[in-house]
Amino acid sequence: MSDNGRVSSPDPTTALRPRLPSPLQEIEDDRFARHGVRLLLKRDDLIHPQLIGNKWRKLVPNLSAAAGRPLLTFGGAYSNHLRATAAAGRLLGLSTVGVVRGQELADRPLNPALARCAADGMRLHFIDRSTYRHKTDPATLAAVLRAADAEGAYVVPEGGSNALAVRGCRELGAELRDRADVVAVACGTGGTLAGLAAGLAPDQHALGIPVLKGGFLAEEIQRLQESAFGDRRGHWDLDDRFHFGGYARTTPGLDAFADDFEARHGLPVERLYVAKLLYGLVSLTEEGAFPRGTTLAAVITGSPLPA
Ligand SMILES: Cc1ncc(COP(=O)(O)O)c(C=O)c1O
Repeated sequence: MSDNGRVSSPDPTTALRPRLPSPLQEIEDDRFARHGVRLLLKRDDLIHPQLIGNKWRKLVPNLSAAAGRPLLTFGGAYSNHLRATAAAGRLLGLSTVGVVRGQELADRPLNPALARCAADGMRLHFIDRSTYRHKTDPATLAAVLRAADAEGAYVVPEGGSNALAVRGCRELGAELRDRADVVAVACGTGGTLAGLAAGLAPDQHALGIPVLKGGFLAEEIQRLQESAFGDRRGHWDLDDRFHFGGYARTTPGLDAFADDFEARHGLPVERLYVAKLLYGLVSLTEEGAFPRGTTLAAVITGSPLPA
């Protein structure tokens, strides 16, 4: 490593050997078939064993842009994004710093997700919730970087959604051009949908299922598209009815639905995002939201964490 913390790192796209384009699989499910709807699964969960789904598409452009500098990013104690960043750091020999929400966690044993990050070499820096909320404010960010001893780091926002990530996700849309009428994806920060919609053909539609409660996401997606492409792109909208109470909230009905989907199709169903997406699509199909003859593609953006 040189004085400014840079290392000469290999090109992430070749070094990480992704499975791209990700497979597109048709599944037989009578809840769709009886309404004349075909269901395809876009298996982004198979892109890479550690950089799964949208993590690959969002992180790799940022890893290239970091050009060997340490990479610093943010997340909660169960963040998939922190885990993926830590794994990428290990695979590419880059140092990573994870800024974790919750100062109180600093004095407790690490949960399995954070323990995995640490095992992958990520340096964890815990901050209080109020500072965390203001982390995009330039003065707060500068103070956090100083306190984390990471002033030269390349900073990736929470959830990994910046303009580069959104442009990376445009490739997901491009892989699905003319393969489906409607492409649906679960949304957290909205970066994946922002890119996906931009990559689709003009007669295709992108549908986002937010897993957080709040109704603020459409504005944020528009902002992300403007930062990545200069203006709003593609045809997209959101259906806000399937968050099940908010992030990481579930119900016995949703759990039973996900168990049943796994048993029917042999697909491991990630519970925080993908279960809500698939539940939403079954409900919308049963409501008659898609005309007969519609081909629907569901993006499988993640897989369950190993126990
Ligand atoms: C498995 C999974 N699916 C979907 C998303 C949502 O992605 P985005 O934040 O780009 O909306 C995430 C969050 O990063 C995720 O971990």
